Amino acid sequence: MSYHEVYQTWQKNPEAFWMQAAEAIDWDTPPSKALTDLGGDLYEWFADAKVNTCWNAIDRHVEAGRGTQTAIIYDSPVTGTKAHISFAELKDRVALLAGALRDKGVSSGDRVLIYMPMVPEALEAMLACARIGAVHSVVFGGFAANELAVRIDDAQPKAILAASCGIEPGRVVSYKPLLDTAIEMATHSPAFCAILQREQSIAPLIEGRDVDWHDFQKGVTPADCLPVPGNHPSYILYTSGTTGQPKGVIRHTAGQLVALNWTMKNIYNVDPGDVFWAASDVGWVVGHSYICYAPLIHGNTTIVFEGKPVGTPDASTFWRVIAEHKVRSFFTAPTAFRAVKREDPEGKLVQNYDLSCLGQVYLAGERADPDTISWAKEHLKVPIVDHWWQTETGWAIAANPIGIEELPIKLGSPAVPMPGYHVEILDDAGHPVADGELGAIALKLPLPPGTLPTLWNAEERFRSSYLNTFPGYYETGDAGMKDADGYLYIMARTDDVINVAGHRLSTGAMEEVLADHPDVAECAVIGVSDNLKGQIPVGFMCLNAGSERPHSQVVAEVVAQVRNKIGPVAAFKTAVVVDRLPKTRSGKILRGTMVSIADGKEWKMPATIDDPAILDEITTALQSIGYASC
Ligand code: COA
Ligand code: AMP
Repeated sequence: MSYHEVYQTWQKNPEAFWMQAAEAIDWDTPPSKALTDLGGDLYEWFADAKVNTCWNAIDRHVEAGRGTQTAIIYDSPVTGTKAHISFAELKDRVALLAGALRDKGVSSGDRVLIYMPMVPEALEAMLACARIGAVHSVVFGGFAANELAVRIDDAQPKAILAASCGIEPGRVVSYKPLLDTAIEMATHSPAFCAILQREQSIAPLIEGRDVDWHDFQKGVTPADCLPVPGNHPSYILYTSGTTGQPKGVIRHTAGQLVALNWTMKNIYNVDPGDVFWAASDVGWVVGHSYICYAPLIHGNTTIVFEGKPVGTPDASTFWRVIAEHKVRSFFTAPTAFRAVKREDPEGKLVQNYDLSCLGQVYLAGERADPDTISWAKEHLKVPIVDHWWQTETGWAIAANPIGIEELPIKLGSPAVPMPGYHVEILDDAGHPVADGELGAIALKLPLPPGTLPTLWNAEERFRSSYLNTFPGYYETGDAGMKDADGYLYIMARTDDVINVAGHRLSTGAMEEVLADHPDVAECAVIGVSDNLKGQIPVGFMCLNAGSERPHSQVVAEVVAQVRNKIGPVAAFKTAVVVDRLPKTRSGKILRGTMVSIADGKEWKMPATIDDPAILDEITTALQSIGYASC
């Protein structure tokens, strides 16, 4: 079938489409129907089924006689370690960890927070939770203690599974002090923490609260897979919204299984047994869906890569890993390719490796600029697929579904909607706009299986964030357009979210940190274009009348504060002091205009501006830090 035929099959009968996809899953009790309409624009998929994710990701492959196949390849250039874990070994390791959690009182529905770097144990922790129906919440290692504390208070985990440290090029990041501080800051306390000691930094354990990862598994009876209802939350993953309070995206068990399994062949074009590599981090949605769950559910080998695209040891690492482990489909962020391209513009290092195993490459997480795609295509000589999705959706909204049909690639477009997604471009009043016209991108409800059904303990926020603007639609927060062939173009966010090196961050959260500084009266943080990271944050501050502190000192302090409170991953390094911020007459800060000025783009004087002269001051301030040059 062609892509159009598959899409039409879904359009004609969405429920039948997903019921058929559900046949690829091992059910304890099969679903009697696909969709449940809960009313009020809330939906659930396969709600009355009983199923276990871990069974589908591990045990069933062992039962089918594929226990010796490698499930996880651990490749860690930062520690000089490589390891292969078969499905049979993975089953034993996960069942034991799950048994240890169960014996310490973790049961179905309890939350378990996971704070770990890219080591196989991170996946084992996620899968052990799934095995006993516990709901995991993985927190990215680049976040600071305060962010961890906010998540602890929101998810209220019974247990925390953490490693003693992560390893960044050139430095060991001790996780344990961050964890201890976060637990002190949080109101909620976990019953216990299990710590994986890594030799690079052995952490002191707190008596009565902390247990050693290996010790607490000794003598334990392995746990069996516990079937859970189809609408049982599989995990909570916090993502940036417009404020400092992150949104807890949840994923239901059955929908995730069905949808992710469907994507592996149809989008990523891999068959069971093939090696699939997503070079991301378990702390992000890509890590959840495509390092851990989807490849394993589909019977693929997944790679846990602990390194960077450059500097570990050089810009050939990606090609080395692909050639050495025979990767068939590779997934990364455009920023990673830009980093490689900057060091090896002519792609000379690619030629040192036999990449004949590689079928196609996928890019997501931010806009894929045409230069990067063309560079990758020229040197890798395989289709480079830009695809568009979000933490909320868990899998691609739009892609080039190579496993169904390789559609023509149009640079700058993540191609076409996947079955399950009815994509509309809407004007402010919620009416569809003509092809080629810019508007807000919205998805007609219901969303497909595997997407967020709501936010953790925050249904009202779910509605106000996603459902209220365009009744009957999910608001993506992205603006863009569709062309006459149905290809989508994702142009910008419509909210305060920015994408820094493929990492989703909230300028609102950074503004909250700046505003906390005793000398800051008012502030704004915007995302300006950056050749490597796509966007980077820049702060503007108006100081309190009478503040006599040197501006450079205030700037240094807020930079340190953002690193302390949000984390190094925010990459907040630049801020300027200004007398005033440009605002509309109703007092709204004109961040969009500031971004255009910073990027040297053409901009129009906003009709509603209070005092146009302020924009000259902003331009001068931006020029003083190297922006607004044309
Ligand atoms: N734990 C602790 N610190 C971390 C971290 C982690 N897991 N990940 C990043 N950091 C730190 C970095 O060490 C860096 O700190 P520094 O300010 O002291 O240098 C800071 O956070 C910013 O990191 P990063 O955004 O990774 O920038 P970089 O300059 O170190 O590297 C790239 C640039 C492009 C190589 C890198 O951003 C990259 O590989 N990006 C791809 C991202 C990706 O795959 N995203 C997934 C979406 S699909
Ligand atoms: P995250 O939730 O971290 O995956 O970030 C999701 C956001 O990243 C989207 O809403 C987009 O703004 C952006 N994004 C992801 N993929 C793409 C893409 N292929 N093209 C353009 N923007 C993208």
